[in-house]
Amino acid sequence: MLRLDGRVALITGLGQTTEEGWGIGAAIATKLAQQGAIIFGGNRTLIAAQRTKARIEKEGGVCNVLETDVTDSTSVESLVDACMQRYGRIDILVNNVGKSEPGCPANMSEEVWDQQVDLNLKSVYLTGHFVLPIMEKQQTGGSIVNVSSIAGLRYIGKPQVAYSATKAAIMQFTKTTAVIYAEKKVRLNTVVPGLIYTPYTRALARRYSPEGNEAEYMRMRDPQVPMRRMGDAWDVANAALFLVSDEAGYITGQNIVVDGGITSFTGRA
Ligand SMILES: NC(=O)c1ccc[n+]([C@@H]2O[C@H](COP(=O)([O-])OP(=O)(O)OC[C@H]3O[C@@H](n4cnc5c(N)ncnc54)[C@H](OP(=O)(O)O)[C@@H]3O)[C@@H](O)[C@H]2O)c1
Repeated sequence: MLRLDGRVALITGLGQTTEEGWGIGAAIATKLAQQGAIIFGGNRTLIAAQRTKARIEKEGGVCNVLETDVTDSTSVESLVDACMQRYGRIDILVNNVGKSEPGCPANMSEEVWDQQVDLNLKSVYLTGHFVLPIMEKQQTGGSIVNVSSIAGLRYIGKPQVAYSATKAAIMQFTKTTAVIYAEKKVRLNTVVPGLIYTPYTRALARRYSPEGNEAEYMRMRDPQVPMRRMGDAWDVANAALFLVSDEAGYITGQNIVVDGGITSFTGRA
């Protein structure tokens, strides 16, 4: 079940903010490698990607990494070309890069808005632009998983309108493209994480909590979840693995929400 032996998986953002714990992209790359996939990853900070590569290789997996800026067309094209030169195919694409900036339209600068759109949404278009024609030509097609957020489904208690708008757009981008590519054996789906404990979330906690009290900020997150705990990167990685696997072969254009029940809950009536 869920084996990916010999499949080539291109993953963006497989580094993580700090060394300890697991970021979502790093966990997805590791999980796919554990299932037999060959990982080809692009990350803005090369050293962070190299840490993930070392973790994967320590377990006997295969991982190649390149410094990549997913907002830059030339950089994304180089990543895709390098993967094709090395392996001649791309079976799986995971678009994991994403970050949130606070603000609503009145107080967010145009520059921050543009950066958010480029990082969270244009990046998904750019990888698709270069990878979809490759997958379409492959007899076995391909599978794409995009990483969104429940902030794209609900207001999650803090003003981050560009993040919410771009994460919502990813879901519709995925659905629409999934229909167009359904006959071509290319499947596209979205994983929608809720409150997840990652090195990035810990950095946000230090940024937003009163006096940088990370533990206090994290304690506030757990009770918001019907399951009474945040998820971790592996919860998201398991959903991504299922979606790219043959076992999900008849599933396309869908969102899998990984949120411990938050988006099914209206709060106490
Ligand atoms: N953590 C959560 O609670 C949560 C919840 C819902 C959704 N998500 C989504 O899950 C995804 C991963 O989150 P995470 O918490 O694991 O984040 P993370 O630790 O920041 O990992 C993301 C990786 O992407 C890289 N990256 C950033 N900008 C890039 C660029 N322009 N080009 C290439 N790589 C770039 C980062 O490298 P640098 O070190 O260079 O920045 C980092 O290694 C994001 O899309 C996020 O929106 C997270």
